[in-house]
Amino acid sequence: MDLPSTLPETTACTGTCATCPAVGSCPTRLVCRCLQVTEETVISAIVSLGLRTVNQVRQATAAGTGCNCCHREIAAYLSVYASSSSPAICSAK
Ligand code: FES
Repeated sequence: MDLPSTLPETTACTGTCATCPAVGSCPTRLVCRCLQVTEETVISAIVSLGLRTVNQVRQATAAGTGCNCCHREIAAYLSVYASSSSPAICSAK
């Protein structure tokens, strides 16, 4: 397997996507096996749509709508790729 030259050494592909801890290192990696949603789809949705929660990722990509066991992994992607600038949660009186 040829390694993509753009990966930093710390996130180099090990060839074992299912157990790789490097979030964002493998676009074709399946984040959600039930719905066959890839890392590329999840990251793209988080960044382009400004998603912040697992439920938002579920609605936008369908990832996490099967057995639910990928929610922790989706949360890991959110922690890395979701915008850190957050609006006020609620300003209603
Ligand atoms: S692996 Fe994502 S819902 Fe089952």
